[in-house]
Amino acid sequence: MRDEIKLFAPATVANVSCGFDVMGLCLDTVGDEMVVRKIPKKGIYISHISGFDLPTEPELNVAGVSALAMYDTLDVDFGFEIEIYKNIKPGSGIGSSAASAVGSVFGMNALLGNPYNATQLTAFAIKGEALASKTEHADNIAPALFGGFTLVKSLKPLQILELPTPEDLYVTIIHPQIEVKTSESRGLLPKEVKLNDAIAQWANLGSLVHALHTSDYGLMKDALHDVIVEPHRSKLIPLFGDVKKAALSAGALGTGISGSGPSVFSICKGIDTATKVKNTIEHVYMDLGIDFDMHISKINTTGVKIIE
Ligand code: HSE
Repeated sequence: MRDEIKLFAPATVANVSCGFDVMGLCLDTVGDEMVVRKIPKKGIYISHISGFDLPTEPELNVAGVSALAMYDTLDVDFGFEIEIYKNIKPGSGIGSSAASAVGSVFGMNALLGNPYNATQLTAFAIKGEALASKTEHADNIAPALFGGFTLVKSLKPLQILELPTPEDLYVTIIHPQIEVKTSESRGLLPKEVKLNDAIAQWANLGSLVHALHTSDYGLMKDALHDVIVEPHRSKLIPLFGDVKKAALSAGALGTGISGSGPSVFSICKGIDTATKVKNTIEHVYMDLGIDFDMHISKINTTGVKIIE
């Protein structure tokens, strides 16, 4: 069995407009790399972090916390060392903490001969994610582990549903270089919702699930609306309304806040539309004086994977 692996831990889009805290999708072209290695010394050690300034103490690092949650269940006389090469900026809204939390447990599991399934790994990774967002949610972790679109049916007991990915879907992401902390973005949300809003939201989420199963792009367009969370969080994102309007007029099926923001995602049918949406959004943001990154990605149906 191998003693070391290098892996790709993908970025993800949580909520996907109508599925707050339950729906997520996995991206292909953006992600972190990590090396996980077996070492003779017992325990979990983070020996390298590059890209962003994050703590190396395992108890203070999301990759370390999820690794410790898994390590505590093992009866082994060796330990694990983790190197983290981060590309996903913390606080970007595309699942930076989930990628780290998933990478460590996926890597350890692979080195152990895969004793745990993806749902069990999700449970360990949730512990790491909770360090960053101050609450347990799996809508970034599940797509990072399973790939494609996932629905978190319940946390207790943990139940993840894998949904089909229509062939021709692409995601265009704009990431304005401002930081939005998930905990603060959650703090903006009301504790109660109106019944009429709830009815609209669950009708949309059910329709989105049906649209994924039937590759019905028209229904997907009708379903990608968020009447509960977006109205509160959109004020955190400069020009959100303009970006959304521009993306939809350029042909996006739906545009919304990625996770807790500030990234904004647009789901598009076909690479040509995704590219047109990117160019149109770029134009809206160009003169604002805020730096931004943009990505186009196909939906990644594999999730986290070994690359070496
Ligand atoms: N569902 C979570 C939220 C995702 O929107 O707060 C955080 O990335």
